[in-house]
Amino acid sequence: MSNIKFHYGENVPLEMHKVRIVQKLNLVPIDRRLEAITEAGNNTFLLKNRDVFMDMLTDSGVNAMSDQQLAAMMVADDSYAGSETFSKLEIKNQELFGKKYFLPAHQGRACENILAQVFVKPGSIVPMNYHFTTTKAHIVLNGGSVDEIVIDEGLNINSDYPFKGNTDIEKLNGLIAKHGPEKVAFLRLEAGTNLIGGQPFSLENMREVSNVCRQNGIILVLDASLLADNLYFIKVREAQCKDMSIKDITREIADLSDIVYYSARKLGCARGGGICISDEGLYLKMREILPLYEGFLTYGGMSVREMEAMTVGLEETMDENMINQGPQFIEYMVDELKKKGVPVVTPAGGLGCHLNALAFLEHVPQNQYPAGALGAALYIVSGVRGMERGTMSEQRDENGVEPLSNMELLRLAMPRRVFTLSQVKYAIDRIGWLYENRDLIGGIKFVEEPKVLRFFFGRLEPVSDWQSKLVAKFKADFADSL
Ligand code: F0G
Repeated sequence: MSNIKFHYGENVPLEMHKVRIVQKLNLVPIDRRLEAITEAGNNTFLLKNRDVFMDMLTDSGVNAMSDQQLAAMMVADDSYAGSETFSKLEIKNQELFGKKYFLPAHQGRACENILAQVFVKPGSIVPMNYHFTTTKAHIVLNGGSVDEIVIDEGLNINSDYPFKGNTDIEKLNGLIAKHGPEKVAFLRLEAGTNLIGGQPFSLENMREVSNVCRQNGIILVLDASLLADNLYFIKVREAQCKDMSIKDITREIADLSDIVYYSARKLGCARGGGICISDEGLYLKMREILPLYEGFLTYGGMSVREMEAMTVGLEETMDENMINQGPQFIEYMVDELKKKGVPVVTPAGGLGCHLNALAFLEHVPQNQYPAGALGAALYIVSGVRGMERGTMSEQRDENGVEPLSNMELLRLAMPRRVFTLSQVKYAIDRIGWLYENRDLIGGIKFVEEPKVLRFFFGRLEPVSDWQSKLVAKFKADFADSL
């Protein structure tokens, strides 16, 4: 990894690329921002890009692509069956993950649909180092349930533990002893564990998990969607791995897994997904249903252009100076916010900077969605769009009871190689101001609440007139500044 020190001692991330295509941004005035968030039902998913300055909703499908990726898209071989483009993608997957078969799918949750349909039966258990929303939804849809076996430290927001995505081996053994390995459909390990703040697992911990799975005949499925960040953290935080190449780490992680699947909206900076597997029997089971949902086996719902970009993007993920960009910008943002006293998830993870809304808005009760309220407030004062990752992202149980989330986070995703350091500084500035004025922020309540994945389309309103008061304070402090 390049080690570049500044003569004057400043500790800032340095972009290891240059920008040659740009997209113009709008920063609409605060009155329009208040109007826009009201029109969007206080749900940042429902904002229109034309009203958004920095889109930190997600890193999914919005990472910057390289010149090599764009060039590859121009020479794609289109065909329903047998395209050369697919062969290149298949070979790249075989090369990086060492599995014999590759099944293409249009995105990560499409892989999850196939895995859940093939492996999950009513009463099945799927242990995992933490659930992801779409993964859990597919497992539950097929009659199974999720068992969280992340280490307790994983849920500790203020920590300096380097691998908060690790699996608790005792919890895993206890679960197997209690239910028997036959009940376990598969164990799922998520690289760069999304919902607990993009936190990685260590290679050492994965070796132990894989060992337990092999002893008990349990299939180990790796969700590699956020693998790039996890690879970086293994390389820089795990002393025994510092001399391994990114390719070697990738290969060992894949060898420890039976199945590797991923969203290529994240991994490989394109739009698509796929499942890698060696066992012929399991491959055939999944292959059987693939054409029902994804299309033929040589495109799986993806355009050939995206497949070309994916092939190049996967190879570029093996470059340390590419995968260090996200984590280094996130670390900068986390450190600067910490200096201002703003409560953030530590240590800095991958994926984005996560504000701890429970501590930010101590006065807002959890059933008034502090993370959602903070998301609406931040948009109003900055045009920065984040994503609620808390109680709003949970689903009511069969009795209509709303489970309160373990954490209330506002995720500010850092799409890789998209924002400049001054843009990140702007976001830090506005978040700092908002923290100083946090008493002005109130809760929000649902006025339309969908039954499944309610955070996507749900509409909410503020519980009081706190938003207009926030706008008035902003105008008093910032005068005519946007
Ligand atoms: N697994 C993980 C770890 C993810 O983060 C995602 C998506 C998926 C699976 C599903 O992949 O979107 O291609 O269907 N995460 C996005 C996010 C949506 O914003 O965090 P997908």
